[in-house]
Amino acid sequence: MKCRVVVDATTSVGTLNERCYGQFIEHLGKCIYGGIWVGRNSEIPNEKGYRLDVLQAVKSLNPHLVRWPGGNFSSGYHWKDGIGPVSQRPRRYDMAWGAEEPNSFGVDEFIEWCRLMNVEPFIVVNAGNGTSEEAAQWVEYCNSERDVYYSFLRRSYGHEKPYGVKLWGIGNELYGEWQIGFCKDGSECARRTMEYANEMRKVDPNTEFVAVGCEDPEWNLEMVKGAGKYFDYLSIHIYIFGDKPYRELAAIPLDIEQRLRNVYGLIKDARRKYEIKHEIKIAFDEWNVCYPEAKEPLFTQFTRVKDAVFTGGVLNALQRLCNIVPISTFAQTVNVSALIIAADDGRMVLTPQYLVFKMYGNNRGVHVLNTSTDSELYMSNEVGGYVPFVDVSATISNDRKTLYLYALNRNENDNVELEVIFKGFKARSGIQQFVAGKSVEEKNTFEDPNRVKIEETLVKNVEAEASVELKAHSVNVIRFFD
Ligand code: AHR
Repeated sequence: MKCRVVVDATTSVGTLNERCYGQFIEHLGKCIYGGIWVGRNSEIPNEKGYRLDVLQAVKSLNPHLVRWPGGNFSSGYHWKDGIGPVSQRPRRYDMAWGAEEPNSFGVDEFIEWCRLMNVEPFIVVNAGNGTSEEAAQWVEYCNSERDVYYSFLRRSYGHEKPYGVKLWGIGNELYGEWQIGFCKDGSECARRTMEYANEMRKVDPNTEFVAVGCEDPEWNLEMVKGAGKYFDYLSIHIYIFGDKPYRELAAIPLDIEQRLRNVYGLIKDARRKYEIKHEIKIAFDEWNVCYPEAKEPLFTQFTRVKDAVFTGGVLNALQRLCNIVPISTFAQTVNVSALIIAADDGRMVLTPQYLVFKMYGNNRGVHVLNTSTDSELYMSNEVGGYVPFVDVSATISNDRKTLYLYALNRNENDNVELEVIFKGFKARSGIQQFVAGKSVEEKNTFEDPNRVKIEETLVKNVEAEASVELKAHSVNVIRFFD
């Protein structure tokens, strides 16, 4: 197949937010205990109790933002259980997941982990069976320099400087009956959100809030109407369940893109109607594809090349959505339907999805560019229309000397000869990285951990135009240098 793409560097669609390729870790299965944290006495190599191989693998993703402690877990979590001397921390029943929570990993451990990786913490407070007062005290513990009880407590536990946590989630999926302390409708959730935001912001006015949203227009309308003045982002979660035919799975990111645009449209209409002056954008703070293989209590799944194509598709969509979805966190990073699978015997597997995140996370431009292709199309039922085989997005660095092209080839059989035409950019050389594997079903396993890997090649004969080969079922990141 042949395809032409025009990349227009003369104008910019918007700015790519640093928070756009974030990660989500939850007290669930072996994500925290066994994944992020093994404790200082573990035989698994660790730095101060943090599992070293995982630490390095997450660092290599360059994620910038990590959401914690849940998920459903956050709706029953009382943060004070997780501070102070570890031996005195209570062991609690975790109602969300029917598990036992030892509380040896709490907010101080989370912040230290974030610092080791140089990422921004994003904390979700308990708006399920917690209280707004408890949440405000959490902000005081993390951010206050005052000489008052919780900041004093933080200092007394050896953390002199405030943590400066800016981004806070107020609750998780409070629209669902599975959630501890769920709300009966959007207006109840709005009332609760307002109380939390009000108190938390009184402690620290520099906080940003993510409130619970969903794809139910009525819910979002009530949220904006009742609490729109108090929050900055509406949270949206999308999971794709089950084994879909490959071409459908590869097409679904376009459906997700449209669904996120729809939610934003609703938010805008509601803001107009209820005269909410400040901007409310979307935090796409849980998303992934989930297979029947990912069963309770561990939710382990070994995703494949087809899931890498799905993931690249979502990341391309997020670039195009940069003005309305500045935040996203992938569910989840370690062990739970994860990018990284870390076994108790010390082995680790990096999935093809991980490899995609690694390529995108380490090849970020600042400005998103407009692109257009003449790709051949195929019909997708999930999208309800035609979908291009080749999906492209592009960014450029601040100094405009490096242009990044992100290109998927959804076709599972044919390579694509991609002709790249630049407007307003003079390319002199290029390096192409890609994840393709040998088939859409290929995966990495403990027995064969490097079956699917990032491959790299030089782009030849780069001038005003360039020609790049996109392997069948591949995700490509191509860096062009001026
Ligand atoms: O990621 C697992 C769970 O899925 C989260 O705890 C919850 O928010 C979502 O429903």
